[in-house]
Amino acid sequence: MEIQIGEGPDVEALMHTEEVFEPSEEFKAQANFGDPAVYDRAEADPEAWWAEWAHKLDWAQPWDKVLEWDAPWAKWFVGGKINVSHNCLDRHVAAGNGDRVAYYWVGEDGARRTITYSDLLSTTERFANVLKNLGVQPGETVGIYLPMIPEAPAAMLACARIGAVHNVVFGGFSAEAVRERMETSHAKVLITADATLRRGEPLPMKQSLDEALDALPDMRHVVVVDRTGGKVETPMREGRDVWWHEQMLAADADCPAEPFDAEHPLFILYTSGSTAKPKGIQHTSGGFLTGVSATHNAVFDIKPERDVYWCAADIGWVTGHSYIVYGPLANGCTSVLYEGAPDYPHQGRWWEIIQEYGVTILYTAPTAIRTFIKWGRDIPDGYDLSTLRLLGSVGEPINPRAWLWYRDVIGGGRCPVVDTWWQTETGMIMITPLPGITATKPGSATRPFPGVSAEVVTHDGEIVEQGGGFLTLRRPWPAMARTLYLDPDRFVETYWSRFGREVYDVGDAARVDEDGYFWVLGRTDDVINVSGHRLSTMEVESSLVSHEGVAEAAVIGQNDEQTGQAITAFVTLEGGWEPSAELIAELREHVAEKIGKLARPKRIIWADDLPKTRSGKIMRRLLRDIADGRELGDVTTLRDPAVVGMIGERVKAGED
Ligand code: WT7
Repeated sequence: MEIQIGEGPDVEALMHTEEVFEPSEEFKAQANFGDPAVYDRAEADPEAWWAEWAHKLDWAQPWDKVLEWDAPWAKWFVGGKINVSHNCLDRHVAAGNGDRVAYYWVGEDGARRTITYSDLLSTTERFANVLKNLGVQPGETVGIYLPMIPEAPAAMLACARIGAVHNVVFGGFSAEAVRERMETSHAKVLITADATLRRGEPLPMKQSLDEALDALPDMRHVVVVDRTGGKVETPMREGRDVWWHEQMLAADADCPAEPFDAEHPLFILYTSGSTAKPKGIQHTSGGFLTGVSATHNAVFDIKPERDVYWCAADIGWVTGHSYIVYGPLANGCTSVLYEGAPDYPHQGRWWEIIQEYGVTILYTAPTAIRTFIKWGRDIPDGYDLSTLRLLGSVGEPINPRAWLWYRDVIGGGRCPVVDTWWQTETGMIMITPLPGITATKPGSATRPFPGVSAEVVTHDGEIVEQGGGFLTLRRPWPAMARTLYLDPDRFVETYWSRFGREVYDVGDAARVDEDGYFWVLGRTDDVINVSGHRLSTMEVESSLVSHEGVAEAAVIGQNDEQTGQAITAFVTLEGGWEPSAELIAELREHVAEKIGKLARPKRIIWADDLPKTRSGKIMRRLLRDIADGRELGDVTTLRDPAVVGMIGERVKAGED
């Protein structure tokens, strides 16, 4: 069968790797899960399996029913009451672990802060009172747009504490993206900072938002963290804008954690789909916390007394929500929180941090691994990485070559590599090895987590035992998204329609091999994966056409050694506009302003017209062929077959 995927890794290379790595006896002996029987046990009674995990959390009121499944609507731990921040903080302090480090924070400027569970609890309590003082009610949305500073997890936990729903926007997104996400989520309070640091320079954050904020009449208050100690100009609007530190001084120290319904929303997080409008993925309290604490414990083989765990993602993405904040804190684990870039002030920064804190677990994305490889195999030379015992990968397919480099060079050949497949919508890791049990193959995410049911299916939804097709999930899981914020119809239509109401349509293509191992190949929809970050072709297209010179635009993902995929845009100009290098720079800047820097097209190709079917649909498949300089297939269905020839000439002549 032919599946339209964006560009994945080299499939042939993936599938022909012969190497299999069994867990070492030493690792197995110490592992939280070393007995393969756990898979059968979970499979025999998935609800009992998840309930077992939920029982490890503190519940203010026990649930009556583990699962209510009225497909596609799920309710987990029905009737149960829980407070997420209590489980991440108070519980550990009460158990005598208040002095345990929650985060070793490393600032981009080299600043260091050590934050214990007690510290994080008191900041969270106080800030929860700040939110209350600003009038935030349970169920209300609070926006968070912050750099990777300790205030970010504290702000999230403070929301959880009082039942407010956080909506974090990645700090690299533009003011316009923040505005849109605040407006559509009806946020009345936003937490941001005066600035974020970029390669040693403060980049204003609050100030850059001001115009967008003024376009949000419902925005009651903006709380501003002073990241730079007053180094950047930060205009404060009287009555609306307040300083974090001033509010904290004025707030009470105690804020008891109130129990909320297990299904009470914990957060929404916007992610890109196949239209220009981002989707507000909505997650709940009890099920989400159960799912992320279970997977964090089992996949990363966490022992809180032993491990120093570092998930090098940003809090603005789901990886940060699940595996920097909620999973690790629920498990009472010590984490590294790093603010800066991997190569500032030098390319050894990560290895320096691993050595300094004795990091045992590193979780990152293939794009970072490829970058390190490019810098040279020998980068970690001179650093002691011997504390590492486990390596994780996430966000995009990992090439076997990168996988092996990660294992050999960073992991010294002794650390298992766990390639974890999941999505913003799944909330938690879904397909992954368990490091003490599962033999790994470089480039494969291996098997579904115990209790998870995944299958590859044909166009018609028939299960493919071995071979390629569409990846689906067949059974509800506790951390699954419950809906799209204020858009249940789109939720049903996007995920639960193609293969019926009971089957979750992932949107990825995958293959299953002879051992039942999964090899995720890439998206089947118009979603581009840049450095493990999801971007929609439509979103980038609509930002391009919002430029006055652009008549039409079509966007595709092209293979890129560094970022996995990179954005290529075909642009048709309005009459009176001429292609030029300056205009290319201007359009890239325009997209950065509309969405954020990571959405900037790497390549812009001028097109007099775009290849369209007679019904007017842009044929992206042809554009991919043209961009890659491939032989073009059938063009007879095009409205104007001459178009592709013209664009092809441009590409060949290198005029883009
Ligand atoms: C999409 C989800 C999960 C947190 C980061 C991204 C791709 C994710 C893998 C992996 C191959 C992967 C998929 C998925 N993806 N992990 N281990 N191997 N592909 O979250 O932005 O919601 O994107 O990322 O295509 O559908 P996201």
